[in-house]
Amino acid sequence: MKVDDVLPNLNNELKGTKTLNELENIIIKYLGRNGLIHDLLTKIKNIDISQRKEYGQKINNIKNSINQLIEQKKTELVNKKNEETTVDITLPGKRFPKGSLHVITIAIEEISKIFQKIGFIRMSYPEVDWDFFAFETLNMPRNHPARDDFETSFIDYPENKKWGKMVLTPHTSNGQVREMWRVGAPIRMINIAKCYRPNWDPTHTPMFFQFEGLCVDKGINITHLKGTLDYFAKEYFGPDCQTRLRPHHFQFTEPSFEMDITCTVCKGTGYLRTPEVPEVAAGTSGVLSKTKCKVCKSGWLELGGCGMVHPAVLKAGKIDPGIYTGWAFGFGIERVIMIKYGIEDIRYYYNGDIRFLEQF
Ligand code: PHE
Repeated sequence: MKVDDVLPNLNNELKGTKTLNELENIIIKYLGRNGLIHDLLTKIKNIDISQRKEYGQKINNIKNSINQLIEQKKTELVNKKNEETTVDITLPGKRFPKGSLHVITIAIEEISKIFQKIGFIRMSYPEVDWDFFAFETLNMPRNHPARDDFETSFIDYPENKKWGKMVLTPHTSNGQVREMWRVGAPIRMINIAKCYRPNWDPTHTPMFFQFEGLCVDKGINITHLKGTLDYFAKEYFGPDCQTRLRPHHFQFTEPSFEMDITCTVCKGTGYLRTPEVPEVAAGTSGVLSKTKCKVCKSGWLELGGCGMVHPAVLKAGKIDPGIYTGWAFGFGIERVIMIKYGIEDIRYYYNGDIRFLEQF
């Protein structure tokens, strides 16, 4: 190799060098005992005496430059290796966004557990069912005006002589006779399923969830209904929640009631406490103000319908109403969650906004 080619050559080779082993080979090639520099120095004897000094100095300079370049490359490679192999175990780990259950799913599990504790089994009956179970066996024969309350959507499917039309179930009560057929008496069931009614406003979505309790046994009466609803209200809304039954009408229960609970904001007083901030009003401190509670206006919030199972329904379920009696209730899941957390618009549940959903 010519003297002037040494440094450009080395530079080229260093560019392609990735490991310390490769660098070691280059050191041997250029600076080793039989390396290039050694070669060039032995050639000094062929050079004219007058130019030897200059030649010697040149080779020396080149040797120094080689040392420098190799040292630089060495530091670079060692640093790189350290970076690759060092793990700082004190650094915090990477956090990945964590998903959560949907607020409706959480409520379904909570409600199921509350009723499981007192011996109710969780069922899910069809959300698309025959007219027979959604209406007829519930004491609402075809053309009965009470059906209008449910604003039912019918499925475009051939009508069956015995079962009638297919419907999008407007309530979970279709599970009542189905469960009676399945197990006879006694029954302790909680049926949680989707229901459909064509409403769309801050408190209604066309698809919603209901949970329906059904209890049938010998000697069952209204006190059992009231006691169970009381237990549920205290478990779900808190120990100071109270309940009341108001007379109402359903075809499939007699007598029938609407069940109310004390407002979770004003604690049943109907008035806000001062200072008039709902958070403070919900607590026990503060004085009652003259401002009506904006959530309930009366101290009570309506939860849903209930009553003693109508003898005609028991009969349709092949259960003897002379021996057995029972109660049933049907409440909206979205509604109980709204009351529990003070959510104003039911549509939050279903518009998929992560900022709302990740709060539960
Ligand atoms: N099915 C009724 C509704 O959807 C509620 C209800 C259920 C009432 C059971 C009484 C007994 O409004």
